[in-house]
Amino acid sequence: MAIYCTGDTHGDFSRLSVRQFPEQKALTREDYLIVLGDFGGVWDGGRPEQHLLDELERRPFTTLFLDGNHENYDLLAAYPTISWHGGLVQPVRPHVLHLCRGQIFQLLGKSFFVFGGAASHDIQGGVLDPADPDWRRQAKILRRRGVSYRVLGQSWWPEELPSPEEYETARQNLDAAHWQVDYVLTHCAPDSVQHAILGTAEQDNALTAFLEKVSRHAAFSAWYFGHYHRSQVLGEKYHLLYTDIEKLC
Ligand SMILES: [Fe+2]
Repeated sequence: MAIYCTGDTHGDFSRLSVRQFPEQKALTREDYLIVLGDFGGVWDGGRPEQHLLDELERRPFTTLFLDGNHENYDLLAAYPTISWHGGLVQPVRPHVLHLCRGQIFQLLGKSFFVFGGAASHDIQGGVLDPADPDWRRQAKILRRRGVSYRVLGQSWWPEELPSPEEYETARQNLDAAHWQVDYVLTHCAPDSVQHAILGTAEQDNALTAFLEKVSRHAAFSAWYFGHYHRSQVLGEKYHLLYTDIEKLC
């Protein structure tokens, strides 16, 4: 049995085809492929998206995903939450599961602390509110200027960053585990790791600060994350993944 990880898929699961991921020929439902946030398979709820999820369900392995900053949190919230391998998940298909924030899962004899979410940084034009009667005109101006923007409830959700309750859940579960896990899985990185990747502290936020505390206080063997659209190993423990598929254990 095996666990594989990959970075942001943004609704494009072509890297999970048999041709690009031939290892799956030997995998079963007890093997896992984890997408480290910005899954993008719960985005507009349309028929093509449903077919993509059905296709994922037909893969021989079980797909797990963290949430990132590019998920439709309204649609995601509509899926029921169940207990699974020691933590909470939302099945979007029987074998395609959203790993909820702050949970610790036991898989193949290893423990995984999972905490998704990230702050969007590709919104120089800001977030437009459809409740504002002028938003379409503003959007047109931004498009004409080539400035990226997002629309509240359509392409951006405040839930991209964790709530106070989710931080508290994470703390309680880490306390119960004495802050010792085998793996940490997140979408974005702790402050210090993010600085090393970006060369700036400009994108620090409450989540990256919380993850910095986890990185300093928790004992773990390896930390895997996505979000920054490149693959890189930082120090000995921090693995940034994008399109690579890496075997964890
Ligand atoms: Fe992201």
